[in-house]
Parts: sequence; structure tokens; C-alpha cells
Amino acid sequence: MNILLTGGAGFIGSHTLIELYKAGHTAFVIDNLYNSDREALRRAAQIIGIDEVPFMKADIRDRKALNEVFDHHHFDACIHFAGLKAVGESVAKPLEYYENNMNGTFVLLDVMRKHGCKNIIFSSSATVYGDPAVIPITEDCPKGHCTNPYGQTKSMLEQVMIDLQKADGEWNVVLLRYFNPIGAHPSGRIGENPNGIPNNLMPYITQVAIGRRERLNVFGNDYPTPDGTGVRDYIHVVDLATAHVAALQAIIRHQGLAIYNIGTGHGYSVLDVVNTFMRVNKVDIPYVIMPRRAGDIATCYCDPQKAARELGWTAQYGLEEMCRDSWNWQRQNPNGYQS
Ligand code: NAD
Ligand code: UFG
Repeated sequence: MNILLTGGAGFIGSHTLIELYKAGHTAFVIDNLYNSDREALRRAAQIIGIDEVPFMKADIRDRKALNEVFDHHHFDACIHFAGLKAVGESVAKPLEYYENNMNGTFVLLDVMRKHGCKNIIFSSSATVYGDPAVIPITEDCPKGHCTNPYGQTKSMLEQVMIDLQKADGEWNVVLLRYFNPIGAHPSGRIGENPNGIPNNLMPYITQVAIGRRERLNVFGNDYPTPDGTGVRDYIHVVDLATAHVAALQAIIRHQGLAIYNIGTGHGYSVLDVVNTFMRVNKVDIPYVIMPRRAGDIATCYCDPQKAARELGWTAQYGLEEMCRDSWNWQRQNPNGYQS
């Protein structure tokens, strides 16, 4: 299949690009490079073994640019990664987040429809469950209250696509609710490259390990969890990438609407991650216990059985490989793609 990847230069998009080619598909990337680097696409092309990745630097809100791409290419489906994703920043800049994520998706869906491409896989998030009613979280769990505009955009966009599919049965909509992606390509050539101070746990740990930050702040050790720190379902980004390849089957089968949790089903605490990282990589991670971070929940991990049953997809990598590959990437690229 030939797949359009919006936001395909980013962390998850660049890894998915590689897995798509590996599975015999081709892809075209559209990205405004707001939170990514062209170098990621150069390196992805080297890993795939092609001269260059078909790419247009453009904003998905730019209808003219999108029309041009669709006029010149046939796409069997779109995997829609493009969006702003920093939770804290979304609280400070709600309008920018709503505008980019909502409007970008509206333009994309409209242009797709006009060009007869009605197959979409959307990057959703475990954040739509809010503080989950049941653990492990199944897809039947009710959606919860999102504490930030970023999460609201995911929840609302899911609804937009559900309604669209309901109105026009020609659409196939696959909503992938990612849990916590970490790790990097095992080659260490591509990985997560956050701007400024990382918000997320693993990039913060790797920056402490490389000496860019003094110590990790652990946000709270008084949660009702085995060691008091927050528990999450970390998933290797390569496993997440292969989940997108597997999700194409739901489109091939004309499943209409399909919703899947994409995680490992295992919950690890902040201190589990820190201790595993130190043991596997033989580096020290100094840390200090800080107050809880606003908006955080105690425990979040999924039941990934539905994806296993219907897509034949299960995560292959464990926490040790996630820690190994995150460090391998950071060690080889101390300043990310600017190295
Ligand atoms: P990322 O920031 O690395 O990738 C997103 C890409 O989209 C970037 O390359 C950015 O430049 C591009 N982009 C943003 N707005 C755009 C626009 N208007 N037009 C064109 N390109 C635009 O993020 P990621 O971690 O790869 O996440 C990919 C998707 O998965 C996002 O939608 C994100 O919300 C979602 N998601 C991520 C996580 C996570 O923890 N990383 C968890 C759940 C869901
Ligand atoms: N944490 C720390 N110190 C840090 C960063 C994080 O102790 O410097 C803790 C958090 O308190 C939490 C855990 O590490 O207990 C994981 O935090 P992350 O920020 O890495 O991830 P979140 O679970 O908060 O959120 C992430 C994404 C969201 C997404 C969600 C579910 O940031 O966008 O996973 O996919 F919605």
C-alpha cells in the first residue's frame, strides 16, 4: 500500500516509516518540521535503503499544499501523526493547540474525502481514559475527563472521526490509543529528540545519563502503587511502529470503526524504569523525590488483548530493551539530530 504519513518526520512517524517499508509498503511524508528535523528522514532513508523519503515540507492546515500532494499521488490510507503534544504547553497555549490539532485534522479529513481516500489511522492516546475507571484498561472503559487541552484534542478528534465514519460507511477509521512510547530504533540512528527541557520521563533520564541535566525529579512517591511512584505502560517505539503496520489490516478488512489500545499490558513505576535503566546501561541516574506533578494519575496500563486478537499484534520488546535502545540513541547523539 502507499501511505500518507502526516507528521512522519517526528519520533513515532519516523519509526513507523521504517516498519512500513520493511513490510513492503511505500510512504509519503508531509510535515512542517515544527517539532522535528529533516535529518530524521535522511537517516530513515539510509536504514530503509532508499535514496530519499518522498517528502513535502508543509503544514496540514495548508489546504492548497495538501490538495497538491493528493493531486500527484494515490494514497491507500493516511496515518495521521501530525499534532502538537506537550501537555504542559497545551495548558499555557490552549488556542494554539486547539487550532493546530483540530483545524489541521479537519482540513486533512476534508481533502482526503475530496480525493476519495477514506482510510485513516489516528494517533490517539491513553490520555482519553482520564483517570481510568478500571485497570487494566480495555477499549470498553469509558472515556474520562482530560485535564489538559492536548488530551481534549485527542478525545474530541476521536469523536469527530467516529461521527464521520457513522455518517459515511465508506470510511475506515482506526483509533490507536498509545500508552507510553519510549526506546529508539536499535541502530541508534533515530530516536526521540525533544526541544528544551523534556516533559517525559525517559528523555529526561537519558539527558541526566549524558550529563545534560544534573538529576531526575521524581514527581511524587506517595501514590497508591507498590513503591509510591507513578505506574505506566511503557512501549518500545518499534513495537508501536509495527502496530501501525498491523492496523492496516483493519482497513483492508473494511472494518469501519476500530479502536485499539497499544501497550504491553505491563505497568512499571518511575523507580522501576530508573533502576532498570541503571542496571542495563551501567550508568548512574541521581534522582530526588519532588511533589506530585499536577494532572498526573497513579496508575495507567492497558489490556492489549484486542489488538492481539484482531490484528495479530503484540509487543515484542520489554523494559530492558526500551532502556537499552533509549540510551544507545542518546549516547550516539548527545544533542539529538544536532549532534
Ligand atoms: P512528534 O512531535 O515527534 O511528531 C509530530 C510531528 O508532527 C512533528 O514532526 C511535527 O513537526 C509535526 N506537526 C505538528 N503539527 C503539524 C502541522 N500542523 N502540519 C504538519 N506537521 C505538523 O510527536 P510523536 O511523539 O511522534 O507523536 C506523534 C503523534 O502521536 C502525535 O499526534 C501525538 O500527539 C501522538 N501521541 C504521542 C505520544 C507520546 O508520548 N509520544 C503518546 C500518545 C499519542
Ligand atoms: N515523571 C517523573 N519525572 C519526570 C517526568 C515524568 O517522575 O521528569 C513521572 C510522571 O510523574 C509519571 C511518569 O513519570 O508518573 C510518566 O510520565 P511521562 O510524562 O513520561 O508520561 P505521562 O504518562 O504523564 O504522559 C504520556 C504523554 C501523554 C500521553 C500519555 C499516555 O506525555 O501525552 O503518556 O499516552 F497522553
